[in-house]
Amino acid sequence: MRRKVIAGNWKMNKLPNEAIQFIEELTPLVKDTENEVILCVPYTDLFYSLLTAQSTNIKIGAQNMHFEEKGAYTGEVSPNMLKSIGVQYVIIGHSERRQYFNETDESVNKKVKAALTNGLKPIVCVGETLEEREAGKTEEIITTQTALALEGLTNEQVKDIIIAYEPIWAIGTGKTATSEDANCSIKAIRNKICQIYGQNVSESIIIQYGGSVKSTNCQELFTMSDIDGGLVGGASLDAEEFSKIVNYNK
Ligand code: 13P
Repeated sequence: MRRKVIAGNWKMNKLPNEAIQFIEELTPLVKDTENEVILCVPYTDLFYSLLTAQSTNIKIGAQNMHFEEKGAYTGEVSPNMLKSIGVQYVIIGHSERRQYFNETDESVNKKVKAALTNGLKPIVCVGETLEEREAGKTEEIITTQTALALEGLTNEQVKDIIIAYEPIWAIGTGKTATSEDANCSIKAIRNKICQIYGQNVSESIIIQYGGSVKSTNCQELFTMSDIDGGLVGGASLDAEEFSKIVNYNK
């Protein structure tokens, strides 16, 4: 049985004092869950969040990183920098980074490798645009993105990765994929992983759904056969709302 992983992606929101307050409020609300709870926060909130989440079941992640260890890359943060302060997870290849910051399948692959080398667990995002969906290309796009992101990894490494299937048209729009649609896309990703890495890996890898997940639709999504939890944007900014998503099975 795969575990359920519920991760919040705060994007560019919350100052350190707000992060501390949020985690203090969330802690008692999620302390009894059997689901894995992750908050991916802005760089400036990482240290405060790690300190506040110490001795809780809340894990902290970053939202991006560079693939190089160090060097003349003004403004960038390296995987070992994240690891050195205790960060455990990092989102890689979010569609907003692909769209606004020229992230490519190639850079995603380099970042995934660098994250794993440094002991960080990547949450790798894939997803199709509305145009691609309407042209009937969803499966082709998301399976290709997955294969390219994981290229050159060993079976053991792939087992350590989380994939987040986030249809771009469902992000921040209030439009959610139907649970059947989301499950079908996630199954296609799992089948692709099975073809490349075998059944054992494809059955153990965690694949989340993301895109307008809320307390009112999460139960339907997370109880589908292949959906192993969610990557939550807007609804992760409110502790009570996010706790309801974490506790969807209570
Ligand atoms: P929303 O939940 O706000 O649609 O964002 C989803 C997302 O991009 C999470 O990474």
